[in-house]
Amino acid sequence: MNKTVCLTGAAGGLGSSFARVCLEEGWQVLAGDLQENARTEMLAREYGEAFAFHPLDVSDPESVRSYADWVRARTAQLDLLMNAAGYYTPNSNRRFEEFDIEKSMEMYSINALGPLRMLQQLLELVLASEDKVVVNISSEAGSMAGSVKHTWRYDYGMSKAALNLATTILHRQYREKGIRFLLVHPGWMRTEMGGMRATLEPEVSAREIFRLIQREKHCLDNNLFMDYNGTPRPW
Ligand SMILES: NC(=O)c1ccc[n+]([C@@H]2O[C@H](COP(=O)([O-])OP(=O)(O)OC[C@H]3O[C@@H](n4cnc5c(N)ncnc54)[C@H](OP(=O)(O)O)[C@@H]3O)[C@@H](O)[C@H]2O)c1
Repeated sequence: MNKTVCLTGAAGGLGSSFARVCLEEGWQVLAGDLQENARTEMLAREYGEAFAFHPLDVSDPESVRSYADWVRARTAQLDLLMNAAGYYTPNSNRRFEEFDIEKSMEMYSINALGPLRMLQQLLELVLASEDKVVVNISSEAGSMAGSVKHTWRYDYGMSKAALNLATTILHRQYREKGIRFLLVHPGWMRTEMGGMRATLEPEVSAREIFRLIQREKHCLDNNLFMDYNGTPRPW
């Protein structure tokens, strides 16, 4: 039977690249994002029924519920839940004095709570698979001990640090049921979020993350937080 992945942020730079890798490997891709774009339309044209798209706003509980209904109508099991949707705003680049704290809530809702909403709705399907892998795309910006020396990115960094903590709790709770959680820093990628000065193509990151998942999928005692190539990240 073909493997099935549920993928958020599927219209984005990393998400669409990851969808393509999965499709090349023969997987069924159930994709979600705020809206379709040229990238998702091309995947649908190239891969037909193996790539299906449904609108999804991970910050909206009702949208996540109806997306999950759509997923359940297409599969009885999810081999991989990949939370790649992410949000970043110019407010994140501001120094503390100019930073608009009240604008942080949306980022928190998308980056930290979105993956939790997704898993809560799709948990039974993840548990029904043999692989049981959940990948939450994190960031070096969420690391407190890392080498990053930014004096900005309060909301973005906080949202990813919160995602990291939530994922460690989930790992403790679901380890004995066999769910392998991974928190992956995908590298500084040349995407809408990463900008054109970034050093890594999202296609390269996506392929490495796919390989990483295959290596790590049953290793429940290994690190949770790592780079796209498997290098451990300090918390
Ligand atoms: N690029 C980097 O250098 C970098 C570094 C570290 C971590 N990351 C993380 O990597 C992941 C992918 O980022 P990317 O570089 O591929 O960025 P991207 O190209 O901007 O893709 C992010 C996707 O998430 C979608 N999205 C935003 N809000 C959403 C919501 N509420 N519900 C559903 N989808 C939503 C975006 O839709 P719209 O475009 O319509 O807003 C976009 O398609 C993110 O989690 C990001 O935080 C990226």
